[in-house]
Amino acid sequence: MRIIRAKDYEDMSKKAAEIIASVVTLKPDCILGLATGSSPIGLYKNLIEKCKNGELDFSQVKTANLDEYVGLGPDDDQSYRYFMNNNLFNHININIENTNVPNGLEKDADKEVARYEKLVQDLGEMDLQLLGLGLDGHIGFNEPAPVFPKVTQCVELDPSTIEANKRFFASADDVPRTAYTMGIGTIMRAKKVLLIVNGKAKAEILAKVINGPVDPMVPASILQFHNDVTVVADEEALSAL
Ligand code: GLP
Repeated sequence: MRIIRAKDYEDMSKKAAEIIASVVTLKPDCILGLATGSSPIGLYKNLIEKCKNGELDFSQVKTANLDEYVGLGPDDDQSYRYFMNNNLFNHININIENTNVPNGLEKDADKEVARYEKLVQDLGEMDLQLLGLGLDGHIGFNEPAPVFPKVTQCVELDPSTIEANKRFFASADDVPRTAYTMGIGTIMRAKKVLLIVNGKAKAEILAKVINGPVDPMVPASILQFHNDVTVVADEEALSAL
């Protein structure tokens, strides 16, 4: 793993945006795996700026997002499709038809996970997969479990994830209990992985991810087995290493 030390959130966002920008510049028709959460918002702002000033062209880029809450549609301001449209896609010159997020409104979980896994496979090898890190070590919504989930699936969210994500909802009761997520196997097939982490609260889990044993109870620790992972983290997040 390559670890890039950033001063703070702003610096992390800038450095991570440079990495994504280099992929898009080298391969204008690249396939990007994208993430939601508070971690990538600053990075997306940097990409929007680069697109607006003519440095970056997303017209041929295709994307697939990691996950989506079950039950939330694109018009729900807490859905990940809404997040992506508002924090990135609506502000860059990407063809919205080339962007993919699991369909939270599909009630037939077997149907949706099969559809999304096939869609991701058919897109081809991801050139870069962007990841945030959950407080319990999750990536996408792959929660701590006895085994690493291979493919896209419907998962029950951990109480700690519901607690962490309730800040975006009116109350904890409003946080959906299940989500569709790419599997760890799906994520590990990406050519490059970019993990962004900031803040003191994630210092302990990040130390486990980087230095601890590879353990499905710390899902992101599997990244130790990927041969092109870059971690861009701020000083607070790196403070327990
Ligand atoms: C969420 C998302 C993840 C995200 C993580 C961290 O639950 N499903 O994809 O990376 O938790 O979120 P944040 O960046 O807000 O800390």
